[in-house]
Amino acid sequence: MTASTGAAGAGFLEMWRDLRPIGRNRDSGGYRRYAWTAADADCRAWFRAQAESRGLTYELDRNGNQWAWLGDPDAGDAVVTGSHLDSVPDGGAFDGPLGVVSSFAALDELRHRGAEFTKPLAITNFGDEEGARFGLACVGSRLTSGVLTPEQAHALTDADGVSLPQAMERAGYDPETIGPDHDRLARIGAFIELHVEQGRALDLSGDAVGIASSIWPHGRWRFDFRGEANHAGTTRLVDRRDPMLSYAETVLAARREARLAGAVATFGKIAVEPNGVNAIPSLVRGWLDSRAADQQALDDTVTAIEKAARAYADEHGIEVSLTRESFTPVVEFDHALRDELARILGTDQELKVPVLGTGAGHDAGILASSIPTAMLFVRNPTGVSHSPAESAAEDDCLAGVHALADVLEGLACT
Ligand code: GLV
Ligand code: MN
Ligand code: MN
Repeated sequence: MTASTGAAGAGFLEMWRDLRPIGRNRDSGGYRRYAWTAADADCRAWFRAQAESRGLTYELDRNGNQWAWLGDPDAGDAVVTGSHLDSVPDGGAFDGPLGVVSSFAALDELRHRGAEFTKPLAITNFGDEEGARFGLACVGSRLTSGVLTPEQAHALTDADGVSLPQAMERAGYDPETIGPDHDRLARIGAFIELHVEQGRALDLSGDAVGIASSIWPHGRWRFDFRGEANHAGTTRLVDRRDPMLSYAETVLAARREARLAGAVATFGKIAVEPNGVNAIPSLVRGWLDSRAADQQALDDTVTAIEKAARAYADEHGIEVSLTRESFTPVVEFDHALRDELARILGTDQELKVPVLGTGAGHDAGILASSIPTAMLFVRNPTGVSHSPAESAAEDDCLAGVHALADVLEGLACT
């Protein structure tokens, strides 16, 4: 992003500049801000500094989520906004940080307007939204809302065998405190998450900002294909039990079945043992991410992929097992809150806001089962996300800040 206009714009750009180098890989240009790593700690320090420089009360909750409060949290009916600062492997700059930076910038804008708050306001950074390290997305908001139990969280491990509690401990946090935080959620009247759009609906409609209607049901499944390790040069083709073959055919089946069901299905992560160029693998572990607009289409897709995987495994003398590692049902954002956002934003003649669904998961989607939540999307001109090429124009980001400020003013001010 380059030069800017207005008070909110200057603050936005300054925050963006500060955050930009943290966790950025020089070679790929992408972000590697994984939960409980040094990059994550730097993002958290940045959040805390932003909160304190604005005179907000900083809080760290029992699940490692960060909060910056204006007003008394115990007054109840708080309006909360925010997103996350962690990233997928080689993620873009906007997925998550745009929501957090825009939240602080929107507060600056409201102060500039002289807005008087009648409700407490908080800005949040939810921990481990992407699940890049421990495989489960939205760990912070899942724990807080009780969707994930402490026992389940304690069992999570990263690729090096480090457990979530160990990682938290090494980062200076107490893993023994994690668990549901219903009292905290009870203080909240509305949660609004602003996010870069991860698709091209706004680009196609010609709008800078949109409102979310729903999130598709989605999940992650681990396929373990087990065969027999052997020499790549001396083992006759007919004697091999090569799990890579069954895996490769399953990837093609996933594409085919998703197309037939109108869903999406992706094998984006794979682990191979022993992982040697000259060895037939003994194990190929592939992670399937699948999503669809409705539950039936998702079920049909995953069932068909599993059936194909079992048939291919039989053919090659392979054992295959399937583990559902996470699942999030369809989320319909609170209709009353969504209508309220549309009303607030619709009063500005220049801003017509489309309402759109998304295939991407968000903390707002997890929290929607506990509190009224809504989302604002900011146009992404290419639709590319979870990639260093993710982008949003500066003017659109500032339109997002303006829209968020309007929404917070409408919900939390007289
Ligand atoms: C998170 O961004 C997801 O949709 O997986
Ligand atoms: Mn993401
Ligand atoms: Mn995100």
